[in-house]
Amino acid sequence: MRTLPKVELHIHLEGTLEPELIFELAARNGIQLPYDLDELRRRYEFTDLQSFLDLYYANLSVVLTEQDFADLTRAYLRRAREAGVRHVELFLDPQAHTSRGVPLATCINGVSEVLKNSESEFGISSSLIATFLRDRPAAEALAVLTELIAMDAPLVGVGLDSAEVGHPPADFVEVFDVARANGLQCVAHAGEEGPPEYVWQALELLRVARVDHGIRSLEDSTLVDYLVANRIPLTVCPLSNVRLRVVDTIADHPLPEMLDRGLCVTINSDDPAYFGGYVDDNFAAVRDAFDLSADQLATLARNAVSASFLPADRRAPLLAEIEEWRASR
Ligand code: ADE
Ligand code: ZN
Repeated sequence: MRTLPKVELHIHLEGTLEPELIFELAARNGIQLPYDLDELRRRYEFTDLQSFLDLYYANLSVVLTEQDFADLTRAYLRRAREAGVRHVELFLDPQAHTSRGVPLATCINGVSEVLKNSESEFGISSSLIATFLRDRPAAEALAVLTELIAMDAPLVGVGLDSAEVGHPPADFVEVFDVARANGLQCVAHAGEEGPPEYVWQALELLRVARVDHGIRSLEDSTLVDYLVANRIPLTVCPLSNVRLRVVDTIADHPLPEMLDRGLCVTINSDDPAYFGGYVDDNFAAVRDAFDLSADQLATLARNAVSASFLPADRRAPLLAEIEEWRASR
């Protein structure tokens, strides 16, 4: 069976760090971890976003060199190829590394040296989005952005992530203004755990082109109407929502309601090493839970093409590949 060709728009590079690679990097960097693989695996039980973020940031202690960042990126692309990913817009959290003393150039160079050959090596075109940590000061985000611009980092855009509640988009207006003035696209996590008001702020104050998660938008029908009327995409991550207890089970996920209401929804994996699956697993989970047809799956894949920052000449062949898949079902 051929795999549906996919565009992935919501995936954190750091969230692809698999437990085995954690131990491999620790050994290479002479770091003694105070637990074994089985014990680490037992920690992958989350009660909310913060309980996940605590482990996500802690595990990064083994990622230190350009080679580490390159290996992490390559491991993701290898798995993404299997998942049928044809284009990815990859999130990177620079402050998760600079805050522990890793130079910005180390992570940017390690990641970008692999991404620049992603198409020829893996058949996956790629671009990079620097995401700022909303639970750290906006001034720090602005300093990192300034450094990224000065070093001419190969970015398509900027985003906003980490602990949401209590850290509204409004705090980051200046950061996003500077990014936009420098030709960068803008996205932001909003409405994952935070209220619809944060989605409004992301749209009106940060002027984002798409909203990451956005699932709580459903609580505000005026907001849903606005998202539909303006065809603002939501990058939904079903398995993440289950594992972070945003919804109880996959069967409770509001994806069908989102589609019924005409929202431009895309399917993504968020942090696949933590949430039990890559983007193909997320597609399979919603297909099975909601008995989605090939037409509906193709619509989700097409939505991601239209929500991407790809130029028109790259979109047309991807849409043709998706149509070929649909017609073959
Ligand atoms: N960083 C990595 N994954 C995240 C998520 N699901 N929400 C917010 N920040 C994140
Ligand atoms: Zn995310």
